[in-house]
Amino acid sequence: MAKFQTALFSGYWIVLLSFLILLFGILFFNNSSLVSIANLTSAINQQAVITKQQTIPFSCATGNLTCPSINITSHTLPPSSSCPEYFRWIHEDLRPWAETGITKDAVMRAKKLEATFSLIILNGRVYVERLRPIYQTRDIFTIWGIVQLVRRYPGRVPDLELMFNCKDGPLVKKADYMAVGAPIPPPLFRYCKNNVTLDIVLPDWSFWGWAEINIKPWDTQLKEIREGNERTKWKDRSPYAYWKGNPYVAQTRGDLLKCNISKSHDWNARIFKQDWHKEERKGYQNSNLADQCTHRYKIYIEGEGWSVSEKYILACDSPTLFVNSRFEDFVSRALIPGRHYWPIRDDDKCRSIKFAVDWGNSHQEEAQRIGKTASRFLREEMNMENVYDYMLHLLVEYSKLFKYKPVVPPGAVEYCSESMACPRKGRHREYMMESMVKAPHHKGPCSIPPPYDPGEMHEFLRMKANYTKRVEDLEEKAWKS
Ligand SMILES: *[C@@H]1O[C@H](CO)[C@@H](O)[C@H](O)[C@H]1NC(C)=O
Ligand SMILES: *[C@@H]1O[C@H](CO)[C@@H](O)[C@H](O)[C@H]1NC(C)=O
Ligand SMILES: *[C@@H]1O[C@H](CO)[C@@H](O)[C@H](O)[C@H]1NC(C)=O
Ligand SMILES: *[C@@H]1O[C@H](CO)[C@@H](O)[C@H](O)[C@H]1NC(C)=O
Ligand SMILES: *[C@@H]1O[C@H](CO)[C@@H](O)[C@H](O)[C@H]1NC(C)=O
Ligand SMILES: *[C@@H]1O[C@H](CO)[C@@H](O)[C@H](O)[C@H]1NC(C)=O
Repeated sequence: MAKFQTALFSGYWIVLLSFLILLFGILFFNNSSLVSIANLTSAINQQAVITKQQTIPFSCATGNLTCPSINITSHTLPPSSSCPEYFRWIHEDLRPWAETGITKDAVMRAKKLEATFSLIILNGRVYVERLRPIYQTRDIFTIWGIVQLVRRYPGRVPDLELMFNCKDGPLVKKADYMAVGAPIPPPLFRYCKNNVTLDIVLPDWSFWGWAEINIKPWDTQLKEIREGNERTKWKDRSPYAYWKGNPYVAQTRGDLLKCNISKSHDWNARIFKQDWHKEERKGYQNSNLADQCTHRYKIYIEGEGWSVSEKYILACDSPTLFVNSRFEDFVSRALIPGRHYWPIRDDDKCRSIKFAVDWGNSHQEEAQRIGKTASRFLREEMNMENVYDYMLHLLVEYSKLFKYKPVVPPGAVEYCSESMACPRKGRHREYMMESMVKAPHHKGPCSIPPPYDPGEMHEFLRMKANYTKRVEDLEEKAWKS
C-alpha cells in the first residue's frame, strides 16, 4: 500500500512538472500571455491523461531494492513501419542455428567463453548472473539497455537465456564448427564480429551513456552534435582530416600516428593522442564530442574491435575517412563506401588519406553530400527507436530457436530499473535516469524485413566491393600522374 501511494505521489509530481514545462513552453513560444485560459486548460488535461495512462512507476523511496511487482498491460500494438534494411542481418547472425536450434549444452559452452554475464528473461522479468569483472561499467549499461527494452515493450520480450561477452574483439571461430559432426556453435552475444566469427551482435552500452568519459545517452548526444554542426559550417572547418584517440590499443592505430603532419610531410592528417589521465583530471571538457566537428574530414579507425567512436564521427556532417576495418557492429555492415563514408586503405593509410582530402577539397559538393548522408542515416535509421527495435527483433528471433525452457540459475538475481539506478550516484545515476524508458512505447515496433537470399547477399557485398574498388582506382590514377 505504501509503495502504491509513493508511486501515485511521484505520478502527481510528474504531471505537475509536465504542466509547468508545458506552461513555460506555451508562454515562451508565444512570447506573450495572450493564450486563452480555455485553450490552456484543454492542453493541460490532455497532457494529464497521456501521462496517467502511460507512465511506468519508478521510485527509489522504498529503501528496499527488491524489484516491484507492477502490473502493466502487455504491449500488443501492431507493426508501425518497416525496419531499416540492416535489420536483415539479424537473420544472418542467427543462421548458424537455423537448422539445429539452440540447446542448453550450446548455451553452457558459450558461458565458458569468458562470458561477462548471463541474462535470463522469464515472464518479462530480467535475471542476471555476473560472471567475470570487466573494465568500467559497460556490462551494467548493457544490462540497463535490456531492462529498458523490457519496459518499453512489456510482454513482448520473450523468455530466453543469453551469454554476453563485453570484451572488444570477437571470439567464436566459424572454422571450429564447420566440420561434419562438429558441435553446435555456442551462441555468444557481444558488440562486434568479423567475417570469420559467429558472435551475435547487440548495440553497445554507450547508447545509454558512457559515464566514465562523459558521453551522454545517444539521443541527447546526437542532438548536441547536431547543434554543434550548425555552429560551424563545413566550408569554414579546417580543410584536413582529424583523429583523436588512444593509439596504443591496436597496431593499425600506431601506424596512423605516422600520417601526422611533420617537418618532412603533410599527409593532410591532424592526429592527436587522447591523454586519458589528463582528461580525467579536467572532467573530459576537452573531449566534448559536440565540439569535435571542427575539421572537414574525420578519420575512423578500429581498435581491438569496432570502436564506439564510430557513430560520433559519422554524426559530424564531415565525410568519414573510414580506414578499412575487419570488424562489424550491428549497423556498420549497412554503411556503403562512397555513400556514407570514404574508404581508406589499411595498408597505405597516409597516401590514401592525403588523396581523400585533396579529392574532397576539389569536389566540395560531393564531399558534403557524403557527410550529410551519414549523419542523416544516424538520425533516421540509427536513433534509439531503431536501436530498441533491433534488440527486440533479435531477441524474438533468437528465442524462437530455443530447444529448452530457460530457468533462473541459483546464482542469478533479478535486475530492474529500481535495483540498478537507485544505489548509483553521480553521472552513472544521471545517465540512467535520463535514458530510462518512462512509458511503454506508444507505437508498435517496426516490421522485420525478410532474410537476404544468397543472390541478394552476393550482389550487396559485390556492390560494396565495387565502390571501394572505384575509389582505389581513382587513387591509383592520381598516384601515377
Ligand atoms: C489553441 O487554440 C488555437 C486557436 O483556436 C488552436 O489552433 C490550437 O490548436 C489550440 N491549442 C491547443 C493546445 O488546444
Ligand atoms: C526487503 O524486502 C524483502 C522482501 O520483502 C525482505 O526480505 C528484506 O529483508 C528487505 N530488506 C530490507 C533492507 O529492508
Ligand atoms: C495483474 O492484473 C491482472 C488483470 O487485471 C490480474 O488478474 C492479476 O492478478 C494482476 N497481478 C498482480 C500481481 O497484481
Ligand atoms: C601531430 O602534429 C601536431 C602539430 O605538429 C601536434 O600538435 C600533435 O601533438 C601531433 N600528434 C601526435 C600524436 O604526435
Ligand atoms: C574477411 O575479411 C578480410 C579483410 O578483413 C579479407 O581479407 C578476407 O578475404 C575475408 N574472408 C572471407 C572468408 O570473406
Ligand atoms: C562496378 O560496377 C559498374 C556498374 O555496375 C561496372 O561497370 C564496373 O565495371 C564495376 N567495377 C568493378 C571494379 O567491378
